[in-house]
Amino acid sequence: VAGTQSPPELPAALADLRTRFNHALEREFDRLDAASPPAGRLIAAARYAALGGGKRLRALLTLESARVAAGNAEIDAFSAALPAAMAMECVHAFSLVHDDLPAMDDDDYRRGRPTAHKAFDEAEAILAGDWLLTYAFRLLAEAPLPPDVRIDLSAALGRATCGMIAGQSADIAGEQLPPGRVLLEYIHRHKTAMLLEAACVLGARSVSASGAIVSALGTFGQRLGLAFQIADDVLDATGNAAELNKPAGQAVLGLPESKRVAEAELSGALAALAEFGPEADNLRAIARLAVHRAWPTP
Ligand code: IPE
Ligand code: IPE
Ligand code: MG
Ligand code: MG
Repeated sequence: VAGTQSPPELPAALADLRTRFNHALEREFDRLDAASPPAGRLIAAARYAALGGGKRLRALLTLESARVAAGNAEIDAFSAALPAAMAMECVHAFSLVHDDLPAMDDDDYRRGRPTAHKAFDEAEAILAGDWLLTYAFRLLAEAPLPPDVRIDLSAALGRATCGMIAGQSADIAGEQLPPGRVLLEYIHRHKTAMLLEAACVLGARSVSASGAIVSALGTFGQRLGLAFQIADDVLDATGNAAELNKPAGQAVLGLPESKRVAEAELSGALAALAEFGPEADNLRAIARLAVHRAWPTP
């Protein structure tokens, strides 16, 4: 949704955070490569899908939510939320690998490179997706956090991931159904918004935030997720890479209404942060950049 105002810049602190996160995830895969020679191709495919591009929207939401939720407490929010941030990106990568498969959207390119099933093969892409999904929950279960926090994180990610998969199913079923606003909203809420909500919730829970803070950050993530997916559909409809392999939201809402709803959800997301001060400015910047698609390329 190209705004009328000039696009905001990615704050340097966020660019640094993304670099720090990418290095940590790379180190995680380096460790795995060394440990898994017989499954080298599987790990290579999982590494290919998880690394090498991506805005890291979910990881940044997790890490920033943790920092905001920790407030002035003497907590290393980055270390506390890193397992959750990696888990979020692993689930996300799994969802993209399977989303691109011939049985689903049948896409050849993702993040400016061949999709996983093109770079490897379909079997390996399916297995890499399975592996990434499972590894996400292993990361949470083994995180150096109190057991009750690890259970909370696993439950929240499990709920959101089941929701995302249900959204993908509805998206496919929706291709055969008469388009409608209720179905469209169900799809957006599930396939995209639940994971963005979870990204924020997991960040806050990683630092044992109070219920009110978890809930405010969760609402922020959820409304951002709706705005983000609507903006994504608008981009698909107006961009040169327009594909007709998914029910375009504009078919239901029309382009101007899609843009209006995206802006309204973005405003709602920002309103959910009202109780926070300048410490939440990075979250506000993430939201604006993501919805206005002004995100600088990684
Ligand atoms: C793409 O997500 C799929 C959607 C839910 C719209 P992103 O746009 O966050 O993908 P990457 O991680 O930056 O590639
Ligand atoms: C996003 O769906 C994928 C998931 C939420 C799992 P889309 O099919 O709409 O997104 P792109 O265009 O492939 O990134
Ligand atoms: Mg899809
Ligand atoms: Mg797709």
